[in-house]
Amino acid sequence: MTDKSATLTIGSEKYDFPIYEASLGPDVIDIGALYKNTDKFTYDPGFTSTAACESAITYIDGDEGVLLHRGYPIDQLAEKGDFLETCYLLLYGELPTAAQKEDFSHRVTYHTMIHDQMHFLFRGFRRDAHPMAIMVGVVGSLSAFYHDSTDITDPHQRMVASLRMIAKLPTIAAMAYKYSQGQPFVYPRNDHDYAANFLRMCFAVPAQEYEVNPVLAKAMDRIFILHADHEQNASTSTVRLAGSSGANPFACIAAGIACLWGPAHGGANEAALNMLYEIGTPDRIPEFVKRAKDKDDPFRLMGFGHRVYKNYDPRAKIMQQTCHEVLGALGITDDPILDVAMELEKVALEDEYFKARNLYPNIDFYSGITLKAMGFPTEMFTVLFSLARTVGWIAQWKEMIEDPNQRIGRPRQLYTGETQRDYKPVSERG
Ligand code: SDX
Repeated sequence: MTDKSATLTIGSEKYDFPIYEASLGPDVIDIGALYKNTDKFTYDPGFTSTAACESAITYIDGDEGVLLHRGYPIDQLAEKGDFLETCYLLLYGELPTAAQKEDFSHRVTYHTMIHDQMHFLFRGFRRDAHPMAIMVGVVGSLSAFYHDSTDITDPHQRMVASLRMIAKLPTIAAMAYKYSQGQPFVYPRNDHDYAANFLRMCFAVPAQEYEVNPVLAKAMDRIFILHADHEQNASTSTVRLAGSSGANPFACIAAGIACLWGPAHGGANEAALNMLYEIGTPDRIPEFVKRAKDKDDPFRLMGFGHRVYKNYDPRAKIMQQTCHEVLGALGITDDPILDVAMELEKVALEDEYFKARNLYPNIDFYSGITLKAMGFPTEMFTVLFSLARTVGWIAQWKEMIEDPNQRIGRPRQLYTGETQRDYKPVSERG
């Protein structure tokens, strides 16, 4: 609490509200007493100016294009760290010591298998089911198999559920991919690290040995880091709201996966690559840029724009570098879709419409090209995003559950419907 406060004047009345100081970014005005004191609500659809919670996990400076996880810049974590230590950092607030890292990695490794009965769940889906539909269903069903870690009031059970989800999401994601390919599931191996294990579960077949390409494993690990957490985005807010009712952690993460699927959010990586294919060649870019600016055309440049970043998304820069590394490692020197992407980025960044609205490429713009080059079908892109984001959702859910001020989320509304009226029998209607 600061000695600063904000005064709201309504008519002849003045109301003071406390201002809380942030360690970084905007301070906040606590309007918790607004309705009680003024009989009025605030109105902020889309929450463009609303802080829904206090958090110490991730900070984004949209104007400077900065992303910090517990104070560490994303480029340093992506360059010098690995995904599991980023998971530890997000969950516990500090980078792990060597011993802590070893213990955490061991605990995750020994939770990677799923209950064998869950294999039958996959059999219930059509082979052409979108893998995100499978992810929502199978992750939500974890609470049916792991009853011993659903009591959110028990810190031990919260920790076990968290580890189980971080460990099992790659296994479930790989199974969703294998199922769509009509190939047998590949079990995790304890002698592979997190990203290598995932690639092996996706691309190994029983008919021959499979060696994970270390360059691709490093790239996969870095892509997981880039997608791990991102403040109070739509899916994280969904997880927090679901968790505020006391729902079990597996159900909350399934709710986050469902929200992430939307093309305006995590589904943008799939939509961005589909858009690049629809554009096809650089000479068709002006036609699509024109459509993106046409208010009567619902078409948007997928992979561009962001609610918070009004500068380059720092993750997009690292994603672009990773894209070139992966294409180089795979000997893909002339990917026509990459040419379209780089030309589109150039055109958009020089266009007044996009400059005036601070529309820059976001993380989803280059991720699709990279993941496609690694062998993933487009429908798997958001699955990979949900795999990586699970640790962010869990860290934010854990922070909320452990917040002594936490209560069920229950927004109000601006009601503009009918005032009260009496029932009319059908004979008197029309
Ligand atoms: C993610 O929140 C997060 O942190 C999300 C995320 C995470 O890690 O969790 O970063 C992941 O979701 C990244 C965003 C992925 N989505 C896309 O790439 C889809 C395309 N982008 C747009 O749908 C849009 O930019 C949003 C949804 C990302 C942001 O929407 P906002 O903040 O509500 O912005 P807006 O729609 O109000 O746009 C402001 C203006 C509008 O024009 P005007 O009405 O002012 O004239 O910019 C225009 C919009 O029409 N605009 C675009 C555009 N994005 C915004 N015009 C063309 N193409 C676009 N992509």
